[in-house]
Amino acid sequence: MKLAKIYGYLKKDLDVIEEALREVIQAEHPVLREASTQLLQAGGKRIRPVFVLLSGQFGDYNLERIKKVAVSLELIHMATLVHDDVVDDAELRRGLPTIKHRYGNRVAMYTGDYILARALENITLIQNPIIHRQLSKTLVEVVEGEIEQIQDKFNWDQQLRDYLRRIKRKTALLIATSCKLGAIAGNVSEREAHKLYQYGYNIGMSFQIIDDILDFTSTNKELGKPTGSDLLQGNVTLPVLFALKDPAFHDHLLQVFRQPTISEAELNALLQQLKVTDAIEKSYLVSEKYLDRALQALESLPDNRAKKTLQDIASLIGKRRS
Ligand code: IPE
Ligand code: IPE
Ligand code: MG
Ligand code: MG
Ligand code: MG
Repeated sequence: MKLAKIYGYLKKDLDVIEEALREVIQAEHPVLREASTQLLQAGGKRIRPVFVLLSGQFGDYNLERIKKVAVSLELIHMATLVHDDVVDDAELRRGLPTIKHRYGNRVAMYTGDYILARALENITLIQNPIIHRQLSKTLVEVVEGEIEQIQDKFNWDQQLRDYLRRIKRKTALLIATSCKLGAIAGNVSEREAHKLYQYGYNIGMSFQIIDDILDFTSTNKELGKPTGSDLLQGNVTLPVLFALKDPAFHDHLLQVFRQPTISEAELNALLQQLKVTDAIEKSYLVSEKYLDRALQALESLPDNRAKKTLQDIASLIGKRRS
């Protein structure tokens, strides 16, 4: 089953959110408008809005109120993607040329800022300082995670805990926050909101680990971007950390990266070698550990359709291909 199918019954509400997203990013300036609209129309899984809605359903669900949270979280995510593609020098996003690629770094930087600013403007429509504070704190950490990643590039000596701290900040916290703010907007009890936060955190960890695995195992078409880009960029992700324990891979990698430029054939040879180690399998095991924890966090929550959907999403995330 596909992710979109699992939350198919939310389609009516997601359509309302889609419309709100379109309205919120309308810009006077043609370049900002075109760039943001193109990214929005390119699609994406809208998984953060889905987490917001589902978490809100544990309380008194009011689409008008919760919509504002969902829209802001998707916009923040989109803003980080625009900036991420500058940092990662990426040419494709959601199967289309990135804003960086089409318009250059400066326009991409401001488009990201613009989308972020709209996200913040939109969240002030909810007059709840707890929501504002939680969101700002998360944003600070996301940026810290991204800058840590730049500092840690090409550092082949790092540890598992460095990687885990990075992905917690750059990915898991935003998903955890989606769940928590959805819960707060739905007036869910503090204890339950915290459980949902824990679910989101663990799902987010697993989500990024799978994203990092797919960078090796998926095809360009499935990914909407070239396979192996993370490694080429010097990003030391979980499969690389595990593969580096194999002395033959370790030596091969150092030899490849000692050169001033790396050809496609050399990169492919390295990717092939990584795949014959146990790195992918071990990475999946770590992802599963987080998925189990996500499911555990849900256990004490009331049995309802939202809970069932969150469980289904957890089991599907481990199998996702894009
Ligand atoms: C991509 O996020 C960046 C990560 C945190 C791995 P998504 O995989 O949710 O991207 P879209 O929104 O579906 O394009
Ligand atoms: C997630 O990392 C990026 C953010 C949290 C912005 P990646 O760099 O792996 O994301 P993709 O693979 O480009 O979507
Ligand atoms: Mg990145
Ligand atoms: Mg990237
Ligand atoms: Mg990635």
